[in-house]
Amino acid sequence: MSRSERFLRACRGEAADCTPVWFMRQAGRYMKAYQEIRARYPLMEMFRTPGLAAEITLQPVRAFSIDAAIIFADILLPLEGMGIGFEFVESRGPVIARPVRSAADIEALRVADPEEDLGYVLEAVRNVRAEIDGKVPLIGFAGAPFTLAGYAIEGGGSPNHLLTKRVMYEQPEAWDLLMDKIVRTLVPFLKAQVRAGAQAVQLFDSWVGCLDPSDYARYVAPHTRRIFRELRAEAIVSIHFGTGTAGLLPFMAEAGGDVLGVDWRLPLGEAWRKAGPGVHIQGNLDPAALLAPREVLVRKAVEVLDSAAGRPGHIFNLGHGILPGTPEDSVRALADLVHERSAGLSRTQPSAAT
Ligand code: CP3
Repeated sequence: MSRSERFLRACRGEAADCTPVWFMRQAGRYMKAYQEIRARYPLMEMFRTPGLAAEITLQPVRAFSIDAAIIFADILLPLEGMGIGFEFVESRGPVIARPVRSAADIEALRVADPEEDLGYVLEAVRNVRAEIDGKVPLIGFAGAPFTLAGYAIEGGGSPNHLLTKRVMYEQPEAWDLLMDKIVRTLVPFLKAQVRAGAQAVQLFDSWVGCLDPSDYARYVAPHTRRIFRELRAEAIVSIHFGTGTAGLLPFMAEAGGDVLGVDWRLPLGEAWRKAGPGVHIQGNLDPAALLAPREVLVRKAVEVLDSAAGRPGHIFNLGHGILPGTPEDSVRALADLVHERSAGLSRTQPSAAT
């Protein structure tokens, strides 16, 4: 079986010759080739220039034996077209100059247009697909409604999402309107990525783990569910990712996605149990393991493979993005190790998944 089929087969729960592997944030600062481009252009220009974004997307695909590419973009890009301007500030991350907090702020927001506001991402998708067609599949993505609403309200990263929760609890109608506008922005954007050539999509709900299950079910799931329902018409596979979600997995599975992405805070066997039948699992090595001595990296990667026990629907990934400072050699060794160690596992019995 070729490198091109493993990832999509695993996302559908089908047997593959070995476990597919890719890494969140596989294109980025830990790579020398990325740093060379980064030294010459501001980050936003890299996202907005399809030729550059396509080249950066392909860097890790050329350097490592990974089984999927993910388009080089950022989850925050759709906010701009909604009227929420932001900047990436060196060593601070994203900063939103005028966060949205009142009903009036939310009423003033627009629904972004994928071609007009995000055409550069779609062009990068077309460029990458033209270059790698047949080699590895291309993943498109968006931030999930909760995580995007969190950035819009907090104005940047946040340790506890207190302001976000205050809007949820104190202004539930404004909250629903904000989530609705985000969903109406993301659905056409994700569909446009698919039409431009993305063969899978991942929804990043990176910070949703700050919610308890009842708030998730009440304030988030109905909105996220709309996105996955709309994607069903597109004949692609979808991945639903979050961190700190051990208590939320049954609700996330119900909201949608062929695959749930989980972090290292729970064993994979438990993730399968909580996700329920028919849902596949992506994860879940601690990204810090890539900075550990080689024998520790090997031991922890083998532990992840062992806990997946050769189930057909496992996609090996980290529990969150690659950390800056990660040695490229460790990434290369990990991708190779996943393929070598999983090739011998029995993977023809779907019954092993229960
Ligand atoms: O390789 C890939 O995974 C594709 C590219 C990608 C980026 N951002 C590029 C990027 C993806 C999938 C994202 C998603 C993203 N962006 C998320 C969800 C995933 C996650 O990590 O939880 C979030 C929360 C963001 C928002 C964001 N973008 C932050 C908080 C930051 C600054 C902190 C950081 O990690 O650097 C960014 C900037 C950003 N987006 C960089 C990259 C490669 C760093 C760019 C640089 O400084 O050179």
